[in-house]
Amino acid sequence: MRMTESPSILILGGTSEGYALAEALSGSDWRLINSLAGRTSSPRLPAGETRIGGFGGVAGLIDYLRAQRITAVIDATHPFAATMGWHAAEACQALARPLLRLERPAWQPESGDRWHSVPDWDAACATLRALGARRVLLALGRQDLEPFVKLTTVHFMIRCVSPPDPPLAFADAELRLARGPFDLDSERALLDTRRIDAIVCKNSGGEATIAKLIAARERAIPVVMRQRPRRPAVPSRTDVGGAQDWLAAAIKVTTTTG
Ligand SMILES: NC(=O)c1ccc[n+]([C@@H]2O[C@H](COP(=O)([O-])OP(=O)(O)OC[C@H]3O[C@@H](n4cnc5c(N)ncnc54)[C@H](OP(=O)(O)O)[C@@H]3O)[C@@H](O)[C@H]2O)c1
Repeated sequence: MRMTESPSILILGGTSEGYALAEALSGSDWRLINSLAGRTSSPRLPAGETRIGGFGGVAGLIDYLRAQRITAVIDATHPFAATMGWHAAEACQALARPLLRLERPAWQPESGDRWHSVPDWDAACATLRALGARRVLLALGRQDLEPFVKLTTVHFMIRCVSPPDPPLAFADAELRLARGPFDLDSERALLDTRRIDAIVCKNSGGEATIAKLIAARERAIPVVMRQRPRRPAVPSRTDVGGAQDWLAAAIKVTTTTG
C-alpha cells in the first residue's frame, strides 16, 4: 500500500490498556479507531473514534480492515477474551497488516502464596472439593459463575460488577456488587469478616484487583487461579510505551515498503 493518507490504527479495546493507548496516541496525526465489544450499555468513550459491536467473525473483520483502510491493529482485549485475538491474527495475516498484542503481565506467585493453577472452572470446582473449602470468595465476572452452582455445601461470597442475569440457583450464596480497584484494608476486612477459606479468581494481572492476593498470602488462604487462555503467536508488549514504539516502527515499515 503506497501511503498518501494518515495511517489508521484500530485498537481492539475496552480494557484499561486500550484506553491508555488511545489517550497516548491522541496527539498524533494518525487516525485512531477504538473498537468495543458492546457488552457495557454506556461505556466510557476512549480518545479518537469509537465503533461498537462485533465485526461478524474473521470475514467481517477482514471487510472492516479493508473498508477503513486500517494500517495496523492493536489487540488490547482482556487477557480472558479468548476469541477476538485469534480473529485479529487471522484477518491481519490474510491482509498482511501488522498486529500487536498489548497485554498486562500475568500475576506471578510469591513466597507464602498458596495458589492452585487451573485451566478451567471444572478443575476449579474439583480443587475446591479437594481443599475442603467451606466459605469461598468468587471474585469473577457474572458469566463465570454458573459452574459453581453445583457445589451445594459451600457458602459463596460472590463479588462481581453486575448481577447474574438470569439469577443463578446457588444453594448458599451472598452477592456483593462492586467494581475494582479494591484496597488492601478492605480486602483484609472482607476475608476476615466473611471468614473466607478459599478464593477463586482469574489471572487477570494488573494492580486494581491484586490486593485480595496479598491479603490471602498474609492469611495463608488458598487461591484457585484460572490460567489465561492460549493466544496466537504475534508480537506483544506489556505497556503503552512499548506499543507506541512498535507502532512507530511498524508504520514506518508499511509506508516505506508500500
Ligand atoms: N472475558 C473477560 O474476562 C473480560 C473481562 C473484561 C473485559 N472483557 C472485554 O469484553 C469484550 C468481550 O469479551 P469476550 O470474553 O466475549 O471476548 P472474546 O471471546 O474474545 O470475543 C467474543 C466476540 O465478541 C466480539 N468482540 C470481542 N472483543 C471485541 C472488540 N474489542 N471489538 C469488537 N468486537 C469484539 C467478537 O465478535 P465478532 O466475532 O462478531 O467480531 C468476538 O468474536 C472484550 O473486548 C474484552 O476485552 C472481557
